[in-house]
Amino acid sequence: MASLSLRNVIKRYGHGPKANQVIHGVSAEIADHEFIVIVGPSGCGKSTLLRMVAGLEEISAGDILIGDRVVNNLEPAERDIAMVFQNYALYPHMSVFDNMAYGLKIAKVPSAEIKVRVDKAAKILELGHLLERKPRQLSGGQRQRVAMGRAIVRQPKVFLFDEPLSNLDAKLRAQTRLEIQKLHRELGITSLFVTHDQVEAMTLAQRIIVMNGGVMDQFATPEEVYSRPATTFVASFIGSPPMNLLKHAPGVRPGTILGIRPEHLILDPNGWSVQIEHVELLGAERLIYGRVGDEQLIMRADEGQPAPVPGDTMRIAARPDKLHWFDAGSGKRMK
Ligand SMILES: Nc1ncnc2c1ncn2[C@@H]1O[C@H](COP(=O)(O)OP(=O)(O)OP(=O)(O)O)[C@@H](O)[C@H]1O
Ligand SMILES: [Mg+2]
Repeated sequence: MASLSLRNVIKRYGHGPKANQVIHGVSAEIADHEFIVIVGPSGCGKSTLLRMVAGLEEISAGDILIGDRVVNNLEPAERDIAMVFQNYALYPHMSVFDNMAYGLKIAKVPSAEIKVRVDKAAKILELGHLLERKPRQLSGGQRQRVAMGRAIVRQPKVFLFDEPLSNLDAKLRAQTRLEIQKLHRELGITSLFVTHDQVEAMTLAQRIIVMNGGVMDQFATPEEVYSRPATTFVASFIGSPPMNLLKHAPGVRPGTILGIRPEHLILDPNGWSVQIEHVELLGAERLIYGRVGDEQLIMRADEGQPAPVPGDTMRIAARPDKLHWFDAGSGKRMK
């Protein structure tokens, strides 16, 4: 097992004036045993970052270190990593056992050793009773576990996951998420996990890297990313519904943006006058959509609170200890 360092990593596709830079200098020091999630919208560079760590993509500048070894010019096979993809592509004609054993056979690991490793991984993943089956005789979740098993038997220093759960339905995704957490507790392998799903990021990560157009906007614990987002982008990407970002509401100075999470707005007779436009009941809570001046506002209210109807006016204030201020020009957090 090992630490992982990204030092001012840059990626350009193509050469000369037509080159397209997609990763703009990412630096991150990841400790041994850490579980890191890279999150961000489509096209922000998540897979590119992961593929550069894996050695499937060259880096254009900077350094990548696994442990204290610079791996910039090493082949994927020399990096001691294992990768699990969204499309896990098992060999259809091979049994579960052979699928898991295949990489080790290629690497000429003795067959007794292969059996020990596959049996151990199968036990951890509860695949022991399925080892003779073919992939087509498995459920989607079971296939996903075989793909993880194939990675585990390699005993890598670093695990790389690229959206491995996105082919699963919501229930199976939640269940597999728990399995991945359990796996990480048992094996403690340093992991980089890519997703565009902020719930997956918040629940799995020890620390989260939030990517925004090839730039790392924040690298922090889930708690910190939620309670002290570094930019308006992070503020609106993490949290559902997203943080309200107000430019013109009463009390907001020109050049700043006031951020307030929907759950931090409260009824207050001295607060803003908010015109209610739409109310959604989500079981235990309501989302109330309103307007203050010319700005949209979303509030979250729990069951016990009075339910407004469209057309009502409510007096609403933000909890003073929960205000976020951002520079309107750069989008960066001010305090
Ligand atoms: N081989 C390539 N040649 C040129 N540009 C590429 C290549 N691969 C990716 N890109 C560009 O690099 C950027 C980052 O792509 P990447 O696949 O890393 O995004 P992503 O965050 O993984 O997105 P998604 O969530 O859709 O998988 C995109 O703008 C993409 O068009
Ligand atoms: Mg991707």
